[in-house]
Amino acid sequence: MMLKVSKISATYGEGTVLRDVSLDVIKGRVTCLIGRNGAGKTTTAKAIMGLVATSGTSIKIDDKEVLNTPIYERARSGIGYVPQGRDIFPELTVKENLLLGLEAKNGKGLIPDYLFDVFPILKTFLNRKGGDLSGGQQQQLAIARVLVSEPKVLILDEPTEGIQPSIIKDIGRVIKSLKDDIAILIIEQYLEFVLDIADYCYVLENGRIEIEGETGVLDKDRLQAIMAL
Ligand SMILES: Nc1ncnc2c1ncn2[C@@H]1O[C@H](COP(=O)(O)OP(=O)(O)OP(=O)(O)O)[C@@H](O)[C@H]1O
Ligand SMILES: [Mg+2]
Repeated sequence: MMLKVSKISATYGEGTVLRDVSLDVIKGRVTCLIGRNGAGKTTTAKAIMGLVATSGTSIKIDDKEVLNTPIYERARSGIGYVPQGRDIFPELTVKENLLLGLEAKNGKGLIPDYLFDVFPILKTFLNRKGGDLSGGQQQQLAIARVLVSEPKVLILDEPTEGIQPSIIKDIGRVIKSLKDDIAILIIEQYLEFVLDIADYCYVLENGRIEIEGETGVLDKDRLQAIMAL
């Protein structure tokens, strides 16, 4: 299972914000895309999902070309996407939010129990409105909801943003436990977290991939310098 992005560029109106970005997101390893504010990380996720004007060579899910297909087609091809921020339905309960994840895969099946083991707060607040959860709890709900749909490719945009350390650890544990079943792309700025979970990293600067490599061999001082500026 893999998502292969080849030389894509993206524009908002007149401005090109991504240039020739190529990424391999492969099952069996956690792939991270890092970069400072405004580097183009979210735009990369939006380009993969079809949410921004994109040109380039290809975006493939296994052998299927999705570059010029509409958003729903990409979702149907198995990409699960948790956007930056709190992407839940505030007026629906936790349970209803999770059931929407089932809708994404024909409404069949059950909410898997392991999600309540890793995110026990969701079980506690099953009947509470999503909008009444804390920001961190909403993030856990957003991740759980997309996992309910059993995606083949999982894209999380800044899952640790505004989240306390113990929950960040839980999220890291879930990601690692899923990497043999799902091709995972994590978009992050929190370097310590990235160095803990990533097997392979891409570094975006001004819309281009400037550095890439296995986490173990990357120059940590250079990464720190790029991210700290
Ligand atoms: N809808 C938009 N219209 C015009 N320009 C945009 C739009 N969204 C983002 N941009 C610009 O594109 C560039 C990349 O933005 P993007 O959101 O991809 O950055 P990011 O790496 O996700 O940053 P952050 O870490 O702050 O989330 C920025 O210069 C931003 O101002
Ligand atoms: Mg962003």
